[in-house]
Amino acid sequence: DNDPRIEGIASSIRVVPNFPKPGIMFKDITTLLLDPKAFKNTVDLFIERYTGKGIDVVAGVEARGFIFGPPIALAIGAKFIPLRKPRKLPGAVISEKYVLEYGTDCLEMHIGAIQPGERALVVDDLVATGGTLCAAINLLERSGAEVVECACVIELPELKVHSIHIVYSLFS
Ligand code: PRP
Repeated sequence: DNDPRIEGIASSIRVVPNFPKPGIMFKDITTLLLDPKAFKNTVDLFIERYTGKGIDVVAGVEARGFIFGPPIALAIGAKFIPLRKPRKLPGAVISEKYVLEYGTDCLEMHIGAIQPGERALVVDDLVATGGTLCAAINLLERSGAEVVECACVIELPELKVHSIHIVYSLFS
């Protein structure tokens, strides 16, 4: 996509060297949130892509999928489901572990939040290895949902481990 809004979005994201560890160039979307035009353009690009696609559910990945997911869900008339880190959700959950650079983490979803056959969109700020999105897709598919696409603001292709064919990102 060569939408003219994308350049402004990309330039609103601050890069913080050596955070959270030496050698990491951290993409900080909090500066995008401080720029109302860039924030609105980000959400609008996703809304334009997903309006009229029969999406029942937007599933946001903790933590930054909770920022971009809800305005998309409201605009397209979908429900919002938070996919959370372990032990945050009070009800019965299903869990999906995934591998990090050091160790593992886990995403959880409330049982009953989604019904078999519902069409889901996953939202997060960034895809790197793809491990987090794989876990999100697995949670939704185990519940019988159909994952239509995973929408991210940023993609880091150099870190890709899992090739997920349904990832859409605004830029890399
Ligand atoms: C970041 C990012 C994605 C994930 C992408 O979250 O927001 O969710 O990493 O990495 P991957 O493609 O290699 O799985 P993080 O794990 O830092 O969690 P947080 O948002 O709760 O801080």
